[in-house]
Amino acid sequence: MAYTIHDLEDYFKLYRRSIRTPRKFWGEIADNFSWNQKWDNVLDFNMTEAKFSWFEGGKLNITENAIDRHLVNRSKKTAILFEPNDPNEKAQHITYEELHLRVCKMANVLKEQGITKGDRVCIYLPMIPELAISVLACARIGAIHSVVFAGFSASAIAARILDSDCKLVITADGGFRGNKTIDLKSIVDEALVKCPCVDKVLLVKRTNTPINFQDGRDYWMEELLENSSINNTPEIMDAEDTLFILYTSGSTGKPKGMVHTTAGYMVYTGYTFKNVFQYQEQDIFWCTADIGWITGHSYILYGALLNGATTVLFEGVPSYPDFGRFWEIIDKHKITHLYTAPTAIRSLAKENIEWVEKYNLSSLKILGSVGEPINEEAWHWYDNHVGKKKCPIVDTWWQTETGGILISPLAGITPTKPTYATLPIPGVQPLLMDDKGNEIEGEQVTGNLCINFPWPGIARTIWGDHERYIDTYFKAYPGKYFTGDGAFRDEVGYYRITGRVDDVVIVSGHNLGTAPIEDAINEHPAVAESALVGFPHEIKGNALYGFIILKESGENRDHNNLRQEINKLISDHIGPIAKLDKIQFVDGLPKTRSGKIMRRILRKISEGDFSNFGDTSTLLNPEIVDEIVKGKV
Ligand code: WT7
Repeated sequence: MAYTIHDLEDYFKLYRRSIRTPRKFWGEIADNFSWNQKWDNVLDFNMTEAKFSWFEGGKLNITENAIDRHLVNRSKKTAILFEPNDPNEKAQHITYEELHLRVCKMANVLKEQGITKGDRVCIYLPMIPELAISVLACARIGAIHSVVFAGFSASAIAARILDSDCKLVITADGGFRGNKTIDLKSIVDEALVKCPCVDKVLLVKRTNTPINFQDGRDYWMEELLENSSINNTPEIMDAEDTLFILYTSGSTGKPKGMVHTTAGYMVYTGYTFKNVFQYQEQDIFWCTADIGWITGHSYILYGALLNGATTVLFEGVPSYPDFGRFWEIIDKHKITHLYTAPTAIRSLAKENIEWVEKYNLSSLKILGSVGEPINEEAWHWYDNHVGKKKCPIVDTWWQTETGGILISPLAGITPTKPTYATLPIPGVQPLLMDDKGNEIEGEQVTGNLCINFPWPGIARTIWGDHERYIDTYFKAYPGKYFTGDGAFRDEVGYYRITGRVDDVVIVSGHNLGTAPIEDAINEHPAVAESALVGFPHEIKGNALYGFIILKESGENRDHNNLRQEINKLISDHIGPIAKLDKIQFVDGLPKTRSGKIMRRILRKISEGDFSNFGDTSTLLNPEIVDEIVKGKV
C-alpha cells in the first residue's frame, strides 16, 4: 500500500515519485480514506494567487474517517486516554465506541442550538475530553471550529471571535493547571461584552467555580447532553469546505485566522502521523501540546484518530505535583511515543535527574520534538535520559500554516542528526532562497526556507483577508511559499532550521508576533514608542526584550512600577505568555531614513553582542546605538 514507508530505500523511491507525479502520488494516499464520493481532480493550484484546490469533487466527513470507520475493528479500543491534572483523579479511557456516542450527542446539541454548516464556533476550554469532543462535534455537523488556547486573555478572545464572527462559544466554569484554577467563564464574560455576534454560551462543568450565569445566553452542557439523541448522521462536506480556523500571530497587530479545509488536511495529517511516527496498532501516543495550538489539532486529535490510534490528553503541567509528572505518566500508561517541545525538555533537564530515573520508561519507542529549534544539549539529554539511546528522535519542522509536518525524520528510517529536522516528507519540495530572490543550490548553504509546490495540508487563506495571505507568504518569492524561517542544508541534503527571519519570536515554543505586543505596550499612557526583539534564553529558547521610549510625562516615574504595569497590559491584551523578560527605557530607537526601526541592531544589543552592528550608514540617528548599549539591562 502506498500509505506506509518501511525503509530508507522506500522513502527515496517514493520521494522521487512524489515529485515526478504529485497528483498520482497524493491520489493513491487519499485512496486509503473513506469518501462519500471520490474526487474528480487531485490538485488545481496557482501559487501567485495562492489558490489551492485538493481533491475537488470529493465528498466526505472527517469524523467518519476519524471515528465511525474504526467502529468495525476498534470499537473497544481506547481512542482518548485522559490523564487529569490531579494525579489522584482517575484517568479515563474513552473507547472509539464511547467517543462516537459522545461526539454524536454533542453534534446534536450544537444543531439544537441553531448551529448549521459553515457557522463559526469558538471553543475556549481546558485540556479535558470535552475539548476534543467539541472540536469533533463541530466537524461532524460542518461547523467551523475556532479553538482559542485557554491561556489567552479576554481581549485576545474577543478579537478572535469578532474576526470570524462566531455565533456560539463553548467554555467551562474553570480549568485546572497545576495548583492553580483559572476562571475561564469570567474571562469569556468579559470578552463577550464586546461580541454582539455571540448569542449562546455552552458551559462545561469542570472546577465547580462559582460563575455568573446569564439566563437566555448560558446553558450547562451537561443538561443539554442529557436530552440529546445518540443518533447523528455526519454532514457530507465538499473536499474544500472549511474545517477550522486557527489564529496565529503575525507582523501586524491583527491575528491571522489560518483557514484549513476538509480533505487535504485529513489526507495530510493522517499520512504524516502514520509515517513520521511509524505508529503501530498497540502503541500509545502522547503529544503534550495543547489542542489550542496546531500541534494539538493535527497530532493529538485528527492525525492520531484518523489512524485509529490511542491518543493521550493531559490536562496538567510538567511540574505538578512535582517534576516527575511526565515520567510518571509514561510509566503509568506505558506510553510508546512522546511528542513534546524543546522548552519542556530543557526545563525538565535542569531538575534533578532522579525525577527521571525514578520511573520505568522502557515502554518508550519513539520521541518527537516540535515548535522551535532543538539545541544540541537538549537533544542529547532527551536521547540519553528519556530515550535511553534506544528511541529515534523525530525533530519535526512545520507551522500552523502548513497543517502538518513538512520536514522530519521518519522514525527508525531516516538516520537522525542532532539539531537537524533532516529531510522533507514525500511530496514536499523545500528550497533555500537568498535575499535577492535567487535560489541557493548546493551543499552547506544557508538561506530563507521556501516550499516550491503545494502539499494537501497547506492553509487555503487567512479568514476574511486573502490579500494578506498572498502578501505574507507568496509575495517575497514569486511562485513559492515563504515560511519565514531560515535554514541550513548540509552535505547530504539534511535541513537544520536556524530560526525566524521575520518579526516573529518563538518563546517557549509559542509563536509571538512582536507587533501585537508592541501595540499593547503603546497603550500605556506613559509610553511613546516601543520595539521588541527576541534574545536567547536557556529554558524558553527565546525571551522578549523591550526597548521603550517614554513620553515626557512618564520619565520621572518609578521604572520598576512601569515595567510591571506594562507587563500587566500585555497579559490583559494577549496573555501571560507574551510578557517581557527585560525592559530597557531608551531615549530613541535606531531608525533608517525611511523611519524603519533597525531591529537587527536591537537584537544584537539584547544578546549582549556589541562587536559588529554591520552597516549602519542608513541610520538617521547612529549616536543612539552607543547610548542604548550603555543602558542595557
Ligand atoms: C514556527 C511555527 C507546528 C509546530 C508548532 C508551532 C518554529 C516549529 C520547529 C522545529 C525549528 C521549529 C518555526 C516555525 N518551529 N517546529 N522542529 N525546528 N523550528 O507552530 O506556532 O505556527 O510556529 O515554529 O520557526 O516557523 P507555529
